[in-house]
Amino acid sequence: MTSNEIRFFQLNTGAQIPSLGLGTWQSSPGVVGDAVAAAIKLSDFCWKLQAGYRHIDCAQAYGNEKEIGSALKKLFDEGVVKREDLWITSKLRNNDHAPEEVPEALERTLRDLQLDYVDLYLIHWPVEMKKGSVGFQPENFVPPNIPSTWKAMEELYDSGKARAIGVSNFSSKKLRDLLEVARISPAVNQVECHPSWQQDKLRAFCKSKGVHLSGYSPLGSPGTTWLQSDVLKHPVLNMIADKLGKTPAQVALRWGLQMGHSVLPKSTNEARIKENFDIFDWSIPDDLFVKFSEIQQARLIRGTFFVHETYGSYRSIEELWDGEI
Ligand code: A2P
Repeated sequence: MTSNEIRFFQLNTGAQIPSLGLGTWQSSPGVVGDAVAAAIKLSDFCWKLQAGYRHIDCAQAYGNEKEIGSALKKLFDEGVVKREDLWITSKLRNNDHAPEEVPEALERTLRDLQLDYVDLYLIHWPVEMKKGSVGFQPENFVPPNIPSTWKAMEELYDSGKARAIGVSNFSSKKLRDLLEVARISPAVNQVECHPSWQQDKLRAFCKSKGVHLSGYSPLGSPGTTWLQSDVLKHPVLNMIADKLGKTPAQVALRWGLQMGHSVLPKSTNEARIKENFDIFDWSIPDDLFVKFSEIQQARLIRGTFFVHETYGSYRSIEELWDGEI
């Protein structure tokens, strides 16, 4: 293995997070289990690879953890992979922020995933919804109390059931506010990140505080019908892909690794799962890498569903993201 493969990043816990993880948001029940198995078994299909994906990004809110759990159990039982060689992330739902709900929520996830611990547990959004509420109805929004939720997350870390804890969808300001009260610093902030939303400000802040940035929607979520995504169609990406003999998706993912963040592409298609893994034995040279700075920036996942004129804490998108929009 050469040093520029960029297989792992080191977290502030000392743990090494695999730089490429399989995303499972919008992976429908019925196909997600096969996708996880195909990703982990990848080396069976490609002689070039020593191992397949070793990092799976999950969340209770995705509604598919049970199926992922069954797939993992089968892989462990068959001896395909060992638990300790996998990195499993999950996330706390908005309606489980009450401190007494936090351990219950992790237990539910562990039960569904059929695991004793997760490698990383994240507060999914800086948004709180009433305990037991379902869906995004505005009357269910309540102002979040991140310090008290975080205290409960710290206890999960102490218990060893979450080997690292962190946040997701936090702006620089929200992360700074949390760092001021945290006994245990978040290890990760998982946010939207791709060539058309590069997160320069947040990236610099995370780096200065030793918080690892992890990028979701690293391909710009092209299949999501409610988003107008053309990240993979950008001429810069296509020009670089042509020059290097790679696909635009591979270029987008490799850009992420070279920027220093982990990438979590979602796919339930075996050929694309394989394509997205082929990003370790080549790199984007400096003269092409600088071209990414020409790409116009726009946040895709704006979180409008969490903004309301009366309920919750956020009256505008600017408030949700503290102006990083
Ligand atoms: P599919 O699951 O059919 O492969 P993101 O991770 O940015 O949210 O993007 C996920 C979307 O991108 C899914 O719709 C997925 O569809 C699609 N996708 C995954 N890998 C690739 C690829 N290599 N090229 C094009 N589209 C991809």
